[in-house]
Amino acid sequence: MLNLCVPIAVSVARPSENPLGQENHAKEDTAMEEIQGKVAVITGGASGIGRATGALLASRGMKVVLADVEQGALDDTVAQLRGRGLEVSGVRTDVSSFDSMSNLVDETRARHGKVHVAFLNAGVSGNAPGALWEHEINDWAWHIAVNLWGVINGVKALVPAMLEHGEPGQVVITSSSVGVVAPVPSAPEYSMTKAAIFSIAEMLYAQLRQRQAPITASVLVPPGTINTALFSAVRNRPAQFAPSAPRKEAAITYEELLRRMNAAGNPRRPVQPEEVAEYVLDGILEGRFWIVPDRRHADIARNFDEIIRARADAMLGRNDPLTYLQKAM
Ligand SMILES: NC(=O)c1ccc[n+]([C@@H]2O[C@H](COP(=O)([O-])OP(=O)(O)OC[C@H]3O[C@@H](n4cnc5c(N)ncnc54)[C@H](O)[C@@H]3O)[C@@H](O)[C@H]2O)c1
Repeated sequence: MLNLCVPIAVSVARPSENPLGQENHAKEDTAMEEIQGKVAVITGGASGIGRATGALLASRGMKVVLADVEQGALDDTVAQLRGRGLEVSGVRTDVSSFDSMSNLVDETRARHGKVHVAFLNAGVSGNAPGALWEHEINDWAWHIAVNLWGVINGVKALVPAMLEHGEPGQVVITSSSVGVVAPVPSAPEYSMTKAAIFSIAEMLYAQLRQRQAPITASVLVPPGTINTALFSAVRNRPAQFAPSAPRKEAAITYEELLRRMNAAGNPRRPVQPEEVAEYVLDGILEGRFWIVPDRRHADIARNFDEIIRARADAMLGRNDPLTYLQKAM
């Protein structure tokens, strides 16, 4: 039976007057503050945002376990970061499998004893042709398996291990502006799964506060379109989720992607994964729920704010969604 009556004693967020100002949220009581010697597990750690964040956290003295389904990229990343003297190791992991995520936890505990930070970041994005009712079941299934089950499996496998030792820690879930701010109709599977994991982040946060847990939860909304390998994610699409007929997936450069997004009316500029890693680090040090664009990407933050206001206005006015949806490319 649904229980909607659980009293939630949350420490209410205290937004400042100006989200682009000094600090967009007050520090939570659960903030880690000291990360030196603590252990971070990062899914999708062999590339892009996960890899950059692994490098940054390890450079601040964390012991980092990178988890990724792409063995070659994982090995290369671990070797490169170790070559820089960083305490990094890898565990090949398929986030869509709970057994694989459980193995990741076991391996991490065997190596380092504990887990303090779980960065649930692995994700895929595919471009199915046609309207969403023409997409194949496997288009939906692949996104759900990685982007949604990956986070469910991550929470279920990692949170008990993080609670067990009683020390501060943080779960960071990588969503997207299309999951948090407003969907983009040309990417329905991606937008839908990113909205679903945002919902998980909110509920996880509330339930941890309700139980006065020493750990907290966050959502990461990267500042726009980041220069990563996400746009060739089809490289990791497993046979079980393959489309019924091979597709000609046109490789598109990051520059071309940005050009098309801007042409469609989504203001975007080049952002590197290392810039996103800085947000993640700050969000962990401050124990913030919202890890979102701030004054470092003020133009993008303002654009997101405009969409959020348009969406709220549409809901409050009972108006249709066309005023706020992100522009299809
Ligand atoms: N790049 C962007 O513009 C952008 C914007 C918003 C959000 N994001 C999100 O950021 C996260 C990281 O993506 P990125 O942009 O760094 O892309 P990326 O492709 O560079 O990195 C994603 C990693 O996830 C791994 N992965 C894919 N399927 C997996 C599986 N089943 N199990 C384990 N690992 C798997 C890939 O091998 C890859 O190393 C994703 O969740 C993505 O949706 C990216």
